[in-house]
Amino acid sequence: MGKLLPRHPSPLLLLAAAICISSSSLAAVRGAPVYRADYLVDGNQLVDMQYHMGPVVSGTPTNLYLIWYGRWEAAAQAVLRDFLASLSAPAPFPAVSDWWARTPRMYADQTGANVTGAFAVAGEHSDAGYSHGASLRRIDVQSVIRSAVYAYPDPLPLDPYSGAYLVLTSPDVQVDEFCRAVCGFHYFTFASVVGVTVPYAWVGNSATQCPGKCAYPFAAAAEYGAGGAQPQAVLRPPNGDAGVDGMVIVLGHELAEMSTNPLVNAWYAGDTPTAPTEIADLCLGVYGDGGGAGGLVGNVSRAPDGSAYNVNGVNGRRFLVQWLWNPVRGACYGPNSSN
Ligand SMILES: *[C@@H]1O[C@H](CO)[C@@H](O)[C@H](O)[C@H]1NC(C)=O
Ligand SMILES: *[C@@H]1O[C@H](CO)[C@@H](O)[C@H](O)[C@H]1NC(C)=O
Repeated sequence: MGKLLPRHPSPLLLLAAAICISSSSLAAVRGAPVYRADYLVDGNQLVDMQYHMGPVVSGTPTNLYLIWYGRWEAAAQAVLRDFLASLSAPAPFPAVSDWWARTPRMYADQTGANVTGAFAVAGEHSDAGYSHGASLRRIDVQSVIRSAVYAYPDPLPLDPYSGAYLVLTSPDVQVDEFCRAVCGFHYFTFASVVGVTVPYAWVGNSATQCPGKCAYPFAAAAEYGAGGAQPQAVLRPPNGDAGVDGMVIVLGHELAEMSTNPLVNAWYAGDTPTAPTEIADLCLGVYGDGGGAGGLVGNVSRAPDGSAYNVNGVNGRRFLVQWLWNPVRGACYGPNSSN
């Protein structure tokens, strides 16, 4: 990981890295968070995004199964559902579906299968009783999935062919390393726990625990930049809820990485499979032209109410999503780019 260190790390950049440790093993989490965007900002450093022979998520559709862990409000759920529906539905340009089609979908595996362009929310499960408590270890997230697929009377389908599971935790739920090193992660289930190997991701609502880390830029940065000042003004969240709009950012990040590296043997940069640098890690903190340096998000749009967004979704929604490493352009890219 040493070669990934930026030349001018700052506390803010280190915290921004929190979002990005989306891998994989405990080893990855123990490593110091590293901000990698200096990389792409000056464009002169080599990014060795490589294919490692494994599959990408290609099911058409890929069935998403949502597990609402803890106490959830309907309004928050509606935002996240609309974001997921927007991945493969038309909306005014630049749309969430443009963001997906123009980058994650450009990754293919050795069978010639591209990352899917079609997601369907195929099932939802509410775990309002905190089946594994309000403080989860990383491995417990798999047990939460197990509980959902074996729930009585309404189990989630166990879908080994084209399923992916999303565990979404409410603001009161603690997860190992949440707010310290990670805001979300993706991995795959173990047959010994869940019965089959399927990709999954976990994203936490940081509203009360660490919005300045995991819902930045919708909350003031929890740690200040190099000059001791806030890197930029707090942005107004497009759906009026910093915790949930922050989850959209992390969910987009994790979905892009889960889809291009579901078994952690497909697309990543760096030499360390236990701490892969994936397509969203490379563009952490970049939301528009000029973003990424010094905690600036870049050039994004303003809605009439002043909220910040860079893509449109279904039901007239707007969202802010981070840019992703585009293999054709060899650069971070989003559909709101001016070129
Ligand atoms: C699939 O990936 C290849 C390789 O990057 C790309 O050229 C092609 O346009 C992609 N196909 C679709 C439908 O996006
Ligand atoms: C930001 O966006 C505005 C409006 O689209 C454009 O005029 C301006 O040139 C952009 N700035 C940068 C740095 O790309």
